[in-house]
Amino acid sequence: MLEKREVQEITEKIQSKNWKYHITTFGCQLNENDSEKIAGMLEELGFAKAENEQDANFLVFNTCCVRENAEERLFGKIGEVKNLKKAKDLIIAVGGCMMQEKLMVQKIKKSYPYVDIIFGTHTMQNLPQDIAKVLLEKEKVRDVIDIDGEIYEDLPIKRNSQVSANVTIMYGCNNFCTYCIVPYVRGRERSRKPEKILEEVQHLAQNGYKEITLLGQNVNSYMRTERENGKVDFEIDSFAKLLYAVAKIDGIEKIHFISPHPKDFTDDVIEAISKIDKISRIVHLPLQSGSSKVLREMNRKYTKEQYLALVDKMMEKIPNLMLSTDIIVGFPGETEEDFEDTLDVVRKVNFEQIFMFIYSTRDGTVAATREDQVPEEIKHQRFDRLKELYESKVEENNEKYIGTFHSILIEGKSKNDANMLTGRTDTNKVVVFEPKADCQIGDIVKVKITENHKWYFKGEIEE
Ligand code: SAH
Ligand code: SF4
Ligand code: F3S
Repeated sequence: MLEKREVQEITEKIQSKNWKYHITTFGCQLNENDSEKIAGMLEELGFAKAENEQDANFLVFNTCCVRENAEERLFGKIGEVKNLKKAKDLIIAVGGCMMQEKLMVQKIKKSYPYVDIIFGTHTMQNLPQDIAKVLLEKEKVRDVIDIDGEIYEDLPIKRNSQVSANVTIMYGCNNFCTYCIVPYVRGRERSRKPEKILEEVQHLAQNGYKEITLLGQNVNSYMRTERENGKVDFEIDSFAKLLYAVAKIDGIEKIHFISPHPKDFTDDVIEAISKIDKISRIVHLPLQSGSSKVLREMNRKYTKEQYLALVDKMMEKIPNLMLSTDIIVGFPGETEEDFEDTLDVVRKVNFEQIFMFIYSTRDGTVAATREDQVPEEIKHQRFDRLKELYESKVEENNEKYIGTFHSILIEGKSKNDANMLTGRTDTNKVVVFEPKADCQIGDIVKVKITENHKWYFKGEIEE
């Protein structure tokens, strides 16, 4: 920990020089949430937020390694900022998931020696100390440890939105899907205490937040490890119970959660969603593949038939439910027949949204060692075929929206037209509409969908 005197010394320096920070986040919402905590720590030290990289004196890159292209984007970025460093006082920090990989840390040190601070997913909370070392002792810092992971509560936080907030409920992952690097870089599954989560949500509600997203790699196994280890002596010991407790908090009007795992989608969770109106009617249910053989080799612990049966059960029990999903094409050994099974599930389940990924080999995972990798060309062809099917389904589905009414939280001005407002339907479709006299960002308004533009709708606020 930093001594008070040191904090004061750094803060005075930062403020007297009017230093600003800029954070670039790669990867998922968990990383976004970490970046909000990094922003909180930096503002507490006296940094102000810069609008862009050029105006900043402290650059943070919060990295992702889930697929190769996320890594490539990072290298492009840190290459670009080298020249900025020549022109002014600039500290560069690279942190997050990718820094938990030894080879990546070596690559940064060798190819980008001007990076001042390297930190990992388990050491983010040390950033103030790391900055102190750079500023007071003129040292380069490498602060990465390989541990199962702990939970750090009460870090300051500077959120990106004033109406909608991410709340991490658990860290790490124990599932070890054979394609995935996340369990290696984020450590073991561990859940935050319910009282800490509820405290955070209450605080958000008091500050005008209306919408929250509960985050974790496997949210519906909330408290499972702790339960199994006999470490739970409180009432809220499951994801379903947490949902009821969060829903009781006045002021919060919409609750989302990502990602649940199909294997842990127990009946109590289905019942909770059906009973709690505040929970979004769109649920993310990652499929990954429609082939039972591939699913087994992915270590997903469900078959095609079990997934489809779960979808049927959820559709039956939860009125107006819609689903989104993640699909990987080109997992090692995936045959044409396996891929057809994936298309078959997509034809059968009317997914509102599909996040499609080309399988990317991740060093250290089980699937990376397989010799039957699918050739790049075939992976791309399959991706295009899946995309084509998905897009035809999107058009078909969108038509159903025309003329329907939705209560929409106004998130802000439209990026493409500052005269228009934007928000999303409960099913995560973007809707753009003209403002009405007294409506404000953060209000919930009733909007009628009038035009279908494939990836967004136009609508009108009802009188
Ligand atoms: N824990 C979440 C999501 C983790 S990463 C879950 O299980 O749903 C987000 C998505 O990235 C995954 O759902 C998967 O579809 C994709 N993904 C993970 N590893 C990948 C890899 N090696 N190649 C391609 N896509 C991958
Ligand atoms: Fe990766 Fe599977 Fe864990 Fe999701 S559940 S983070 S895909 S290992
Ligand atoms: Fe990427 Fe790390 Fe999230 S690897 S997907 S940022 S947990």
